[in-house]
Amino acid sequence: MSDSDWSQGYVTDTIYADRFFRELSPAWLNYVAALCGASPRNLDRSFTYLDLGCGFGSSTIVNAGAFPAGEFHACDFNPAHIEGGQRHAGALGISNIQFHEASFEDLLLQELPAFDFIVLHGVYSWVGAEARQAIRRIIHDRLKPDGLVYLSYNCLPGWSIEAPLRKLLVELAATEGGGSPQRTQQALRSLKHLSSSKLRYFNANPSAATAVDAYTKDPSNYLAHEFLNQTWEPFYSIDIADQMADAGMSYLGSATLVDNHPALVVDELAAEAVDQLATGRQRQLATDFATNQRFRRDVFVRGHARLGQVETTRHLRAAAIGCLGNPERIGTKARVPRGEIRFQEDFIRGLQSLMLRGSTTIGQAVAALGGEGRDPVEIARNLIFLIAAGTLMPFAKARSQSHAVKARRLANRTVERVLAHAIEHRVPRAIPSETLGNGVDILPVEALAITELLAGADAVETLAARLEAGIDGMQLPRNDDPVTYSRAVAQGVIEDLVPALMRLGVII
Ligand SMILES: C[S@@+](CC[C@H](N)C(=O)[O-])C[C@H]1O[C@@H](n2cnc3c(N)ncnc32)[C@H](O)[C@@H]1O
Repeated sequence: MSDSDWSQGYVTDTIYADRFFRELSPAWLNYVAALCGASPRNLDRSFTYLDLGCGFGSSTIVNAGAFPAGEFHACDFNPAHIEGGQRHAGALGISNIQFHEASFEDLLLQELPAFDFIVLHGVYSWVGAEARQAIRRIIHDRLKPDGLVYLSYNCLPGWSIEAPLRKLLVELAATEGGGSPQRTQQALRSLKHLSSSKLRYFNANPSAATAVDAYTKDPSNYLAHEFLNQTWEPFYSIDIADQMADAGMSYLGSATLVDNHPALVVDELAAEAVDQLATGRQRQLATDFATNQRFRRDVFVRGHARLGQVETTRHLRAAAIGCLGNPERIGTKARVPRGEIRFQEDFIRGLQSLMLRGSTTIGQAVAALGGEGRDPVEIARNLIFLIAAGTLMPFAKARSQSHAVKARRLANRTVERVLAHAIEHRVPRAIPSETLGNGVDILPVEALAITELLAGADAVETLAARLEAGIDGMQLPRNDDPVTYSRAVAQGVIEDLVPALMRLGVII
């Protein structure tokens, strides 16, 4: 088969960036289900998960590591991606993931189990109508009742100023030579020139020139995958909802957690205007105009069943939450798209000491933080808003930690291999955690610091000296010299990262 036979106009001459996205975690998606009135999937026993268009499978590999009892499948038609994913999973010793080198159409013909979760990230806007139809068929045929789907896509009206830029870029790239990254770079140069040449489009839409400037900072393989596929189609969210309805799915909520709380996203005046509209459909479309976002991470559930208030509250109370950063740094203010939200000092003090003990359920947190004159509904709302703001995070398990233990060793061989890989290849990696049900991003220098710390360098000065010696070839933030940087990393790892990894059971 020639390249053009199997690639269906999708860019295949340059590999896609190897990245991990926390929104794809079963624990994260279960939180969206609990928040939005559907039943979370049971993650305490074996469950099934399918990643369509997995790229190198980085997210699914991390999730497979975080859920050893789950059965993970990852599909992509690019052999280089599948081969890379298999090699990476093998190197980490993660075996509960099956890779399928197949197009979506071919996958339909394969024997597969029924799935609890089907996810596709960065796929739907970039593949043709036939592939999208095959995706919907897979969801229709292979998702369990009450199963969850994560679907991300470029959306309108947020892309409306930039969509014409993509058209121009594709046309400009068509006459350039070389592979798609080179053609993208050349075309981008011409686009940049046009954007500063008084073309009326750019005068009428000043944000278009800003967008072109932003493209020049992106890596060219990313830009090629974003723009040079034969298909590039942003969608209105209500049209996506219609398409998913054909596959038996209904819209549940957003994996961009804050978007589930209009009060944190949309200004009061806009919210009032949207609220006055007659139908849910009109309100949803108008909300997209209110937020003007360009990318959506929608979560759908099979069927239309919505749980009543009692069941929804029960699931939400059972949802595990925790703090990935240093709980002592949780402040009384949190940033959300609409501005700043504030919390009372005594509530935050109570939350800090609760989170220092590890993860907990929302129900347990409400009980622990409740007291005289405190309204449990308000406490629950505060916790949910802090999750939306990213201060707290959905976890897979409530797990408390006995106090003041010294870090002794890594919990398992997979963690060891992730750190070794980050150090050897000088690349950021994500450490899977069963408690988190997700991955913790770490930089190569942090991987080195953890390794050195467990080898005995557990004071800031000693650790900083070891880092300085080993930092060679690692990317430093701009304007930082190796001495200052090593010291800052050593301090951060000792004070924040290692205690966090201990609460997560990654270091014991
Ligand atoms: C933009 S990448 C996203 C990769 C991954 N989901 C992520 O977020 O890192 C889209 C992926 O879909 C794959 N793909 C595109 N069309 C496909 C098709 N018809 N069948 C299977 N895979 C496809 C590409 O090879 C590519 O790896």
